[in-house]
Amino acid sequence: MELKLAFIGFGNVAREFALLLKSRADLLAENYNLTCRATAIATARHGCVLSTNINLDEAIGCVRRKENLAQISGATAAADPMAVIENCDADIIFETTPLDPLGGEPATTYIRRALGRAINVVTANKGPLAFAYHELKALAAGHGAAFRFESAVMDGAPVFNLVERCLPAVKVTGFKAILNSTTNLILTGMEQGRSFDEALAEARSIGVAEANSDYDIDGWDAAVKSVALANVLMGADARPRDVERRGIRDITCDEVRAAVRDGCAIRLIARADSTGRDLRLRVAPERVPAASLMASARGTSNVLVIDTDLMGRLSVFETAPGVEQTAYGLLSDMIRIHESMPPRLNSRASN
Ligand SMILES: NC(=O)c1ccc[n+]([C@@H]2O[C@H](COP(=O)([O-])OP(=O)(O)OC[C@H]3O[C@@H](n4cnc5c(N)ncnc54)[C@H](OP(=O)(O)O)[C@@H]3O)[C@@H](O)[C@H]2O)c1
Repeated sequence: MELKLAFIGFGNVAREFALLLKSRADLLAENYNLTCRATAIATARHGCVLSTNINLDEAIGCVRRKENLAQISGATAAADPMAVIENCDADIIFETTPLDPLGGEPATTYIRRALGRAINVVTANKGPLAFAYHELKALAAGHGAAFRFESAVMDGAPVFNLVERCLPAVKVTGFKAILNSTTNLILTGMEQGRSFDEALAEARSIGVAEANSDYDIDGWDAAVKSVALANVLMGADARPRDVERRGIRDITCDEVRAAVRDGCAIRLIARADSTGRDLRLRVAPERVPAASLMASARGTSNVLVIDTDLMGRLSVFETAPGVEQTAYGLLSDMIRIHESMPPRLNSRASN
C-alpha cells in the first residue's frame, strides 16, 4: 500500500520525520507492505506547495537554505496552508505547527478542516487536544477519519497508546508528572551550580525550549500538556485556564541548593486529582525526596505516573528524549492508521 502524505508545518519535527521515513523505508515495506509519497507541504515563511511527488530531501535542503519550497521540481505554489489543506491529495495530514498555549490556533482550525475532508490527521501539537479534543475526536469519527497525537505529550513515548491499547476497561483516576524538558533542565542545571540564565541558554542551544521560552518557564507548556492528558486519558473537558499554574521563574539558586542540602530536589510537577466529579489540575514547583522517581528525572527527562482503578499505579519514564523520539511518535501514529485502514483501501491504493 502507498500512503500519500501532506505536511502542515515543516520544522524540526516534520523534517526529522521525513528522515525517519527514509531510514525506515525498507522496514516499512517489509513489515507493513507500506510505501510513502509526499504530496504537499505548508509552512509560514518557506512557502506552501502541492505536487504529485515531492522529493523530501530536496524539501529539507530548501528549508535549511531558507529558500522557498516553490523551487522544488514539479511543485505548484499554493496561496497559504489552508489552500494546501483544501486542495491536497493526501491520506494523512501531519500537523506540526508551533504551540499556541492560549488558544490552540491555527492548528485546531487546520485539523478541523482536514478531518472535515475525511483526511486522517496526525499531530505533534498539544494545543488542539487542550482546546478542542472532544470536538475533533467526534469530527474524525463522523467522517470516518483517524485523529492521532502520540507525540503531543512526552514525545514518542507511548502514553496515549499505553492507555488506549494496553489498558482497555481501566479508568485513569489521576496522574503526577514531569512534562516540560526545559524547566527540568534548568532546575537540574541549577543543582549542578549553573545560573538560571545559563541553564536556559543550554535548553535553547539544544532545541528543547519552545520558540517563546516564557511558555516553558511560566508553566504554560506543562499546563497545556496536563489538560491534554486529562482530556484524553480521563475524559475531562478541561482548558489550560482551569489549571492552577505556577512556573519556576521565581526559583532561586539558593532555594535549589537548600533543597539539595535537605536531601530533596525541586521539580516542576503536574498533577491531576479527581475527587468524585471534581478534577483538580495543578502545575507548580515542588520539593521531592532525592530518592524519588520524580527527582531521578534529570535534564530533559520526563516522567508520567498514572493512577488507575484496576491496575494500580503505572509509570512511563522517558530518558533524555530528542526530536527523533518526537518524529517516531508520528511514525507510530502513521503505522497505526495504516493498520486500521480497510483492506478495500489497501488494494485500491496499491493498484
Ligand atoms: N521539537 C520537539 O522536540 C517537540 C516535541 C514534542 C512536540 N513538539 C510539538 O511539535 C510541533 C512542531 O515543533 P517543531 O519543533 O517542529 O517546530 P518548528 O521547528 O518551529 O516548526 C514549525 C513549522 O510550522 C510552520 N508554521 C509556523 N506557523 C505556521 C502557520 N501559522 N501555518 C502553517 N505553518 C506554520 C513553520 O514554518 P516556517 O519554518 O516557515 O517558519 C515550521 O515549518 C509544535 O507544536 C511542538 O510543540 C515538538
